Amino acid sequence: MEVAALCFRLVMLGLIFLRDQVHNSYTQNRAFLRITPNRLQHFELDSVSFECVGFDGLTHLKAVRNTEELNLACDNNRTTSSCTIDRVYLEDSGEYWCESEGERSDRVNITITDGPVILDSPVLPVMQRTNVILRCGSKNPSSNLGMFYKNDVPMHNTPAEEIKINNISKSHEGFYKCHVSSIGTSPASWLAVEEFSVTSTRPHEDLLSDDSNSLSVPILLRIAVTIFITLLLLVGLSKLKISACW
Ligand SMILES: *[C@@H]1O[C@H](CO)[C@@H](O)[C@H](O)[C@H]1NC(C)=O
Ligand SMILES: *[C@@H]1O[C@H](CO)[C@@H](O)[C@H](O)[C@H]1NC(C)=O
Repeated sequence: MEVAALCFRLVMLGLIFLRDQVHNSYTQNRAFLRITPNRLQHFELDSVSFECVGFDGLTHLKAVRNTEELNLACDNNRTTSSCTIDRVYLEDSGEYWCESEGERSDRVNITITDGPVILDSPVLPVMQRTNVILRCGSKNPSSNLGMFYKNDVPMHNTPAEEIKINNISKSHEGFYKCHVSSIGTSPASWLAVEEFSVTSTRPHEDLLSDDSNSLSVPILLRIAVTIFITLLLLVGLSKLKISACW
């Protein structure tokens, strides 16, 4: 009984490992700019980190602030591909992206506000047919109930802590903002939607609905290695004269 359970567990571990490998190759294929906290809007004096993920070689973090293009290298001890701004100011608003010899991430528009309300919306374009949640953030934590607007049109009638948009499509693109009663209104940020395609390799959780056509060589190699290791394990077990496996 116990041996059978052990075998089952081994096979499950193998499968989980395989799934993670496939998932990792999806999420690592495409380089992107990671922003922490993961949203487009930030309060003045917040600490915000920028990190270029998935690039090969020398990578630069770039920004256009107030029409001036600059290289950001505020993390002096390390590469230029990551940067934490301990206190952001209004003038840090602008477009940010990462660039290496052969690759460039999408640009994202970061908005710093000196107002009391921000919209919490995704940094990267949202994949078509997934869901997205928008939240309202206020400096006064007791009042995060907001009214959400798309292109200045209210999206609902009663204030809510968050709004969920299901089954995203291109028609959901637009400028979103939120308003907290008697506190204030956030700036507006553009919600971008990426059309679903099998070659798309953006870091989204929902992307595992894979199409075998899009399996690239490295993924096949990982799968082969995983199967090989699993077989070795099984052979090893049977050598130990444990026959209860199957
Ligand atoms: C960022 O904002 C500027 C000015 O509003 C606009 O021209 C640009 O297209 C935006 N970029 C992105 C990636 O949304
Ligand atoms: C999502 O929207 C697409 C059209 O954009 C539609 O074909 C599909 O049936 C919708 N799926 C769900 C679960 O509503």
